[in-house]
Amino acid sequence: MFIVLEGPDGSGKSTQTRLLVERLRAAGKTAVHTREPGGTPAAEAIRSLVLNPEFTGLDTRTEALLFAGARAEHVANVIRPALVRGEVVVCDRYIDSSIAYQGVGRDLGIERIRDLSLWATGGLVPDLTIVLDIDSALGIARAGSDLDRLEREPAEYHDRVRKAFVALALHDPERYRVVNASGSIDEVAQRIQIAVDEFIAGRLA
Ligand code: TYD
Repeated sequence: MFIVLEGPDGSGKSTQTRLLVERLRAAGKTAVHTREPGGTPAAEAIRSLVLNPEFTGLDTRTEALLFAGARAEHVANVIRPALVRGEVVVCDRYIDSSIAYQGVGRDLGIERIRDLSLWATGGLVPDLTIVLDIDSALGIARAGSDLDRLEREPAEYHDRVRKAFVALALHDPERYRVVNASGSIDEVAQRIQIAVDEFIAGRLA
């Protein structure tokens, strides 16, 4: 099973991904914890390049291709092999981040960016995507002061990104759950647990 956590910056995805993996392992599952961009040494190198705030004028197509390149590397070397072994993969961000940040945020087009990522991944899509929804201004405030290149974009950009995630989720309620990401870490973790448990129970039914 392939589970992805998505959402705007500062939605708490990284913490919640870790907690979900801990719970799955405590329940006896072999769970792989990974993230995008990243997950392999080469993809982590692409991450530090694409998020580097010194590259202020980075061309938006270059940006989209770098995220897609990191994703191809990650799927081929980490995600697909783990799924073939029958493990659960929990990933912090995936294709929908490219659709929201590059397709919508950078106006490169939803279809073009989806097609690019589907080509990069050989068509691998998550079984379940949890969208952590949070007011984008609150998210950026939570992200702190050491902001990466994308986090430095204006509030209007982050607002469009947030709306894009929610729109993707509403379009396909079978594969998505939107979770309110405001509240304490424990409260949000509990909401995610309920969403994942319901999804697994639905698959077994
Ligand atoms: P993230 O891992 O959430 O950063 P951190 O946890 O260190 O704050 O994400 C890194 C940034 O990359 C984030 O601003 C979203 C952006 N991003 C894209 O623009 N497109 C993508 O395809 C991905 C995976 C991330």
